Amino acid sequence: MFTIANISYLGFLVCIALCIKLYWKLSTRWNGSYSCLVGKTAIVTGANSVGKTAIVTGANSGLGYYTALDFAKRGARVILACRNKDRAEAACLKIIKATGNKNVSYKLVDFASLQSVRTFAEDFNKSEDRLDILVNNAVVGFFEKDYTGDGIQYMLHVNHISPFLLTHLLIDKLKQSAPSRIVNVASLAAIFSAPNFDNINKVPKITLFTELRDALVYATTKLYNILFTNELARRLNGTGVTVNALHPGSVSTELFRGFTGIVDYITKIFAYTLFMTGEEGAQTQIYLSVSKDVENISGGLFTNCKQIGMYSAAKDPQVDKKLWEISEELARISPNEKLNFANI
Ligand SMILES: *[C@@H]1O[C@H](CO)[C@@H](O)[C@H](O)[C@H]1NC(C)=O
Ligand SMILES: *[C@@H]1O[C@H](CO)[C@@H](O)[C@H](O)[C@H]1NC(C)=O
Ligand SMILES: *[C@@H]1O[C@H](CO)[C@@H](O)[C@H](O)[C@H]1NC(C)=O
Ligand SMILES: *[C@@H]1O[C@H](CO)[C@@H](O)[C@H](O)[C@H]1NC(C)=O
Repeated sequence: MFTIANISYLGFLVCIALCIKLYWKLSTRWNGSYSCLVGKTAIVTGANSVGKTAIVTGANSGLGYYTALDFAKRGARVILACRNKDRAEAACLKIIKATGNKNVSYKLVDFASLQSVRTFAEDFNKSEDRLDILVNNAVVGFFEKDYTGDGIQYMLHVNHISPFLLTHLLIDKLKQSAPSRIVNVASLAAIFSAPNFDNINKVPKITLFTELRDALVYATTKLYNILFTNELARRLNGTGVTVNALHPGSVSTELFRGFTGIVDYITKIFAYTLFMTGEEGAQTQIYLSVSKDVENISGGLFTNCKQIGMYSAAKDPQVDKKLWEISEELARISPNEKLNFANI
């Protein structure tokens, strides 16, 4: 139980948790406004969403659940895109019960499979007339396996390649429904990483302990979400479809549910005491999805319902472009599906 690795991991966690807490304390004073995190219900202002259709991926728990719940409260049609049928169904029923909005359903999709994302998109395309909001929220924080059946590194596949592919496949619907919005849930963790294109599809060797490796890979995939957002914003310019990325705030979700033993135990204690609730943490993605304030903003990075400066590792358009090309290949985007500047 108490191995050196675990003890050093605890130290690492304590530091991170304290830094986050400190950061909040300081930023609260500096901004003087936490308006969008305070309170418990429909905190983000924005028009109601009657007549709009939204997809929230990974919506059966945590941030995704509260995002879907909020959209349902606003009267939107909401599709929960989830992997597990029982959990998706339970979340769906809970949202319907809480909001009285019966226009909430789920579609199953496995983000660790290219074919599953394609099937989901085709099905959605056939059964739905419009798509106003796409929230790319699904995420994993650890390796369930090293590579997916498509030969793609597991975390890269789920956290970046699948949302990249899904967005390509749904872009026509989003364009038809413009003004429409894509919201990519990234993370502040991205500042701890740098693009690693030469080894992008590899699982790094474990040097100290598994959780640290997983946290670093997680951070890199979150950086890729931001680079993707930057390039997509350029490609969608003028279409009426906007795309923004965000850091949701440190939230006690099930992100680290792969952790075991003492590490899991301590992570949970820190998560529940220091981090925000899922509902609080979801406010920025809800804001980007519904608020009028950001209707003309694209390619931005947000946290706490405010635009912030781009992280330094995400400031080079050439890097965005390079990631885009690599991703097209890994996601096996066909020539006619490509979102080239010319055909968008
Ligand atoms: C469900 O949502 C769709 C799309 O927003 C809308 O056209 C339809 O009228 C809604 N149905 C009900 C029963 O509210
Ligand atoms: C969506 O449906 C339209 C026709 O309604 C079709 O042209 C398009 O290829 C479909 N897209 C996908 C990803 O299935
Ligand atoms: C979109 O195009 C306009 C005019 O060409 C330009 O001013 C703006 O910066 C572009 N936006 C993005 C996100 O590239
Ligand atoms: C967005 O742009 C439209 C058209 O230029 C303008 O009417 C609207 O006021 C702008 N919205 C915001 C919040 O700036």
